[in-house]
Amino acid sequence: MAAGDTPQTPTAIGSRRNFLNMALGTLTAIFSVSLLGPLFRFLWPRGDKSGGEGRIGIPAEEMLVGQSRIVLLRGEPVLVIRDNNMVVALSAVCTHLGCLVKYQGGGVVLCPCHAAAFDLSGNVTGGPAPRPLPSYPVKIEGNQIVIGRT
Ligand code: FES
Repeated sequence: MAAGDTPQTPTAIGSRRNFLNMALGTLTAIFSVSLLGPLFRFLWPRGDKSGGEGRIGIPAEEMLVGQSRIVLLRGEPVLVIRDNNMVVALSAVCTHLGCLVKYQGGGVVLCPCHAAAFDLSGNVTGGPAPRPLPSYPVKIEGNQIVIGRT
């Protein structure tokens, strides 16, 4: 002990130790609770975000020939393309590093990140994408374009 230091009583040391133990316990509890949210979301993922049984309908008059749009189907972005009297639905997530792809017209789907290119079947036609884009079933019901399983 250096000169001028006040001696600490056992009570003061015990009190400081209690405070540190309580602070450490509180931080451990906060850290544990912060891990529970992602764990629960992993174990029990949220239900269908699109409603229904994993299908989504788009009024046909809202998608003219040559147009495309991205919709969410079960929380997954899906690129719906209406081109030359056919409608296709492909995953909008590039199989390279996960950027959202866009329809360029002329049957070409491009990824803006590293220029992967896909055809309307989802097949890779250029760039670094290692796999095709998964496709979704599409049909016309009345005046609705229905994407997803029935
Ligand atoms: S993320 Fe699409 S080409 Fe890289």
